[in-house]
Amino acid sequence: MGIYEKLTRCLESVRAKTDFVPQIALVLGSGLGSFAERINKAAEIDYKDIDGFPTSTVEGHAGRLVFGTLGGVKLVCMQGRVHYYEGYGIEDVVLPARLMALLGAKVLFLTNASGGLGKGFRAGDFMLIRDHISCFVPNPLIGKNVDELGTRFPDMSEVYDKELCGIIRESAKDCGIDLKEGVYCQLTGPSFETPAEINMLARLGVDAVGMSTVVEAIAARHAGMRVCAVSCVCNLAAGISPTPLTHDEVQEAGRQAAPKFKALITESVEGISDHLSTVRL
Ligand code: HPA
Repeated sequence: MGIYEKLTRCLESVRAKTDFVPQIALVLGSGLGSFAERINKAAEIDYKDIDGFPTSTVEGHAGRLVFGTLGGVKLVCMQGRVHYYEGYGIEDVVLPARLMALLGAKVLFLTNASGGLGKGFRAGDFMLIRDHISCFVPNPLIGKNVDELGTRFPDMSEVYDKELCGIIRESAKDCGIDLKEGVYCQLTGPSFETPAEINMLARLGVDAVGMSTVVEAIAARHAGMRVCAVSCVCNLAAGISPTPLTHDEVQEAGRQAAPKFKALITESVEGISDHLSTVRL
């Protein structure tokens, strides 16, 4: 089955359950899924009930779409995502991001958990993603171009929308959060990096490393969405961290950061919504 056909099937499956049209789609990363509790819910759909939608096999990644409002903003939250290391094809990994575009969302707001290597970074920091390095994972646009979504050779000179980044910066200030900024690099995982790999990434100008987000951002830009992203630096990267890395530690750090994260995302989403309402005029 072609990618667009599969997407259409997913869309029909969602539309059979809700006619909700979100302005913003928010992807909640590891340990950050509890944000969805804040939403004034209009509908909830388990990934397994969406025909053809990939479902996560990782513990701590609940799979659910939550539709609703937050301070008047129409939002869909993806509680959990699938990762390339689970064995899905890259086109399945980005299917949810593309589906968000077909549901009507103009903005894709991505979040994730990462290891930090930027100067002065500490575990528990948040980093605004200003740019990314995608060269270590397959490009999600490889294969026949899906013309219904976008062009064969999409521009990537501003993946992370400058205006949206500005709104997130202001929101962090309002919340009293010292928001870091930098370049995020996606690797396939599932093993964490070696110190030598982290050393290499540092030389390439990487500030945070993780196992998601970049391919979704590429697919969303291809489909014409505006993209922004915040990373929760759950640990210092291998070789910088004094202790070995564990998934439990990453999840626990995510949970500890959750209150600050929720404040930042709530403020940012409201700011973005105000911005979208001025763009529409
Ligand atoms: N490396 C890769 N992915 C991660 C890390 C890390 O150190 N922490 C959380 N996700």
